[in-house]
Amino acid sequence: MTARPKGVKRQGRPAARAGRRRGSVAVYPGSFDPITNGHLDIIERGLSVFDEVIIAILLNVEKRPLFTVEERAALIRETYGGHPRVRVDTFSGLLVDYAEKVGASVIVRGLRAISDFEYEFQMALMNRRLNPRIETVFMMPAEGFSYVSSKLVKEVVHLGGPVTGLVPPVVERRLREKNGAARPAPRRARR
Ligand code: PNS
Repeated sequence: MTARPKGVKRQGRPAARAGRRRGSVAVYPGSFDPITNGHLDIIERGLSVFDEVIIAILLNVEKRPLFTVEERAALIRETYGGHPRVRVDTFSGLLVDYAEKVGASVIVRGLRAISDFEYEFQMALMNRRLNPRIETVFMMPAEGFSYVSSKLVKEVVHLGGPVTGLVPPVVERRLREKNGAARPAPRRARR
């Protein structure tokens, strides 16, 4: 059975071992600044289809992330705590080259809403042109995560709002530390 990462409630549970392809390796790339429960939902769905999921953090010198790549990798490792079928790695350069190097034939991306589609569609077709052997598979997170993004989570914490249930507890703690103890105590989310 797939071990659920700490602090993540199941929503719209993916079927366990729903026709998993033997020996299949999928890359789940992204910035993960920081990882959210929406990302974790996609990883779980990936694990129900593929034997191994490599979470690949992009080393992007142009973006100004809140967390360093090392911090982001550590947060993901803490959340996944030695899961036997999850690997955490970093990459630079072309994603398809990285996927080929690690023996992955699939790129997994999450699609939350129509607004994600255009960018994802362009990337998938560009990646296919660059390497037709690598297929992009889109997975939809549970509806409860359809509005969750790293960007919004950072903004809410920065402004003193609650993000409990949207990110793993360790990420919430580190976000608050980054934003400084001087900020007002977070309000409880309304039910
Ligand atoms: O979490 P993000 O920022 O939406 O992830 C974007 C990511 C990392 C998937 C994308 O920027 C990427 O694949 N970068 C690698 C560079 C690349 O291969 N570009 C050409 C194909 S579109």
